[in-house]
Amino acid sequence: MTERDDNLAGDLAGRDNDLNAWDRDHFFHPSTDMGQHARGDSPRRVIAGGEGCTIVDTEGRQSLDAFAGLYCVNVGYGRSEIAEAIAEQARELAYYHSYVGHGTEASITLARMIIERAPAQMSRVYFGLSGSDANETNIKLIWYYNNILGRPEKKKIISRWRGYHGSGVMTGSLTGLALFHAHFDLPRAPILHTEAPYYFRREDRSQSEADFSAHCAAKLEAMILAEGPDTIAAFIGEPILGTGGIVPPPKGYWAAIQAVLKKYDILLVADEVVTGFGRLGTMFGSVHYGMEPDLITIAKGLTSAYAPLSGSIVSQAMWEVLVQGSDRFGAIGHGWTYSAHPICAAAGVANLRLIDDLGLVGNAATTGAHFRAALTDALGGHAHVGEVRGDGLMAAVEFVEDRDDRRFFDPGRKVGPAIAAALLDEGVIGRAMPQGDILGFAPPLCLTPAEADRVVLATSRAVRRVLG
Ligand SMILES: Cc1ncc(COP(=O)(O)O)c(C=O)c1O
Repeated sequence: MTERDDNLAGDLAGRDNDLNAWDRDHFFHPSTDMGQHARGDSPRRVIAGGEGCTIVDTEGRQSLDAFAGLYCVNVGYGRSEIAEAIAEQARELAYYHSYVGHGTEASITLARMIIERAPAQMSRVYFGLSGSDANETNIKLIWYYNNILGRPEKKKIISRWRGYHGSGVMTGSLTGLALFHAHFDLPRAPILHTEAPYYFRREDRSQSEADFSAHCAAKLEAMILAEGPDTIAAFIGEPILGTGGIVPPPKGYWAAIQAVLKKYDILLVADEVVTGFGRLGTMFGSVHYGMEPDLITIAKGLTSAYAPLSGSIVSQAMWEVLVQGSDRFGAIGHGWTYSAHPICAAAGVANLRLIDDLGLVGNAATTGAHFRAALTDALGGHAHVGEVRGDGLMAAVEFVEDRDDRRFFDPGRKVGPAIAAALLDEGVIGRAMPQGDILGFAPPLCLTPAEADRVVLATSRAVRRVLG
């Protein structure tokens, strides 16, 4: 080492010490054990860079990120095309609002690109910044819609247990996970939850997938009838359950649910924050599973998280009703300062072009199939693996104490987090899903088959280290 290298190493170590102290003392992290973090008792990691599917921290430790951040860095890290589009937009025009009919070339172009890719019945995009605020917009649009139609009682929204739709007051209420409700006085009315389409955890194990789908639809219909169909405005669901456990819908589920919704004139919101723009190997999960939504929520994959941007895509039929509202009441009273922010929109335009140019939707289908097959081969027969499941580039391994009688581990043993930690030691990031012992994967859509094999090998080692 030269003297200069010595000085540099000393500087970096000093900076790391500063960052550690500042982090502990001043940074209130989301979804983090606050006390442990502030006391320095839990692992902390300062991420410094990324390239493709790999990130690196300030200690030089590399990890293959098989969860794409929070299933959002779909084009992978370090894409200069997006960085340059952001820089150019920032130089030209960093900001102008989109109220009272204002737009920018980037935001208008992006709206057009989204509608070109969306299911045929969709026609307009309302931009926000996060999946949560887009679902908040959806709730307001649904209420506004029914007020215009003279149905002031038709306001309740049905979500599913294990659904994830955000963590605001209303969107946290839509979410169907205990962690996001407990001690926050959620859920709030008028949100209801119906059964999760979670075939592996079905109560009646004699049911086929089709039986179970019919059972879920019957439970939904019973709830609608008990509440009164005239009070139910909408149903919201992710095409495939994400944070609730990465669970594809059982056969026939969406057809059965939609038949019930149509019967009682109930709107369908497809929350495609995770599945929009290619994750299931199709541009939209709605198309993948034959859903015909009135509203689609988009976020993460819209910019691959290079800048925060979300959207509510509105169907033509719903739009025609909403327009009657402004004809009667004036401009819609709903707006965010940063709606359609030009820098985020420029990132979105560059990101969607890159997804096309690199053929990432097709890669999600083919590499996704390879990945899931290899994961099943490696772990499907393990004594503590209850199920390996997924679709496109989403996959999960669910762990059980006993396979034969499907007995789950005591949650206090934290088997899922232990396996995720062991996997990180192997150089791969997977996610311990928040409810159940479930290891989730949702890598960037540019994952190669060789990288998929690395993830599988590392997972196999991690599982064997923790569970034998
Ligand atoms: C399906 C779904 N909807 C909504 C959200 C909320 O998005 P955000 O965290 O950007 O508010 C998420 C986040 O993971 C999500 O997975």
